[in-house]
Amino acid sequence: MEKTLAIIKPDAVKKKAAGKIIQRIEDEGFTITGLKMLSLTKEEAEGFYVVHKERPFYSSLTDFMSSGKIVVMQLEREDAISHWRKTMGVTDPALAEPGTIRREFGFSIETNATHGSDAPETAAWELSYFYKDKDAIEKL
Ligand code: RTP
Ligand code: MG
Repeated sequence: MEKTLAIIKPDAVKKKAAGKIIQRIEDEGFTITGLKMLSLTKEEAEGFYVVHKERPFYSSLTDFMSSGKIVVMQLEREDAISHWRKTMGVTDPALAEPGTIRREFGFSIETNATHGSDAPETAAWELSYFYKDKDAIEKL
């Protein structure tokens, strides 16, 4: 079974959508094999999104991701990476298909309710950021 990393972002936790999103994840046939609620410091958010370091939204994104509690999950399913991204919808909730999580719970291109890994290599790295890299876990 393929594994992916999912995050319920601070906007969705604040609006009490976490329960509905977790239900949807199980309804889509994923098995949740890791789940924790935590807060990221600004530095931890910067580390997680280091791939976007040069992008104009990096500072704002990492402020947002460290602005409140998040729910981090390891999900398992056949084609977990692509299926979770399809279930979330595209980055901008206004452009996401009806029925997707971002369309239903997202607010803007930045505050878009959930995160999902985009490839096997990034899934492995992102899962290790929260679940295997001892240094990363000890900081949380
Ligand atoms: P994610 O990594 O969170 O699953 O989202 P994604 O692949 O759909 O989008 P990505 O391009 O990786 O961007 C990561 C997150 O940065 C914020 N963002 N803001 N202001 C903007 O133009 C902008 N573009 C992206 C979003 O929170 C996006 O999910
Ligand atoms: Mg991404």
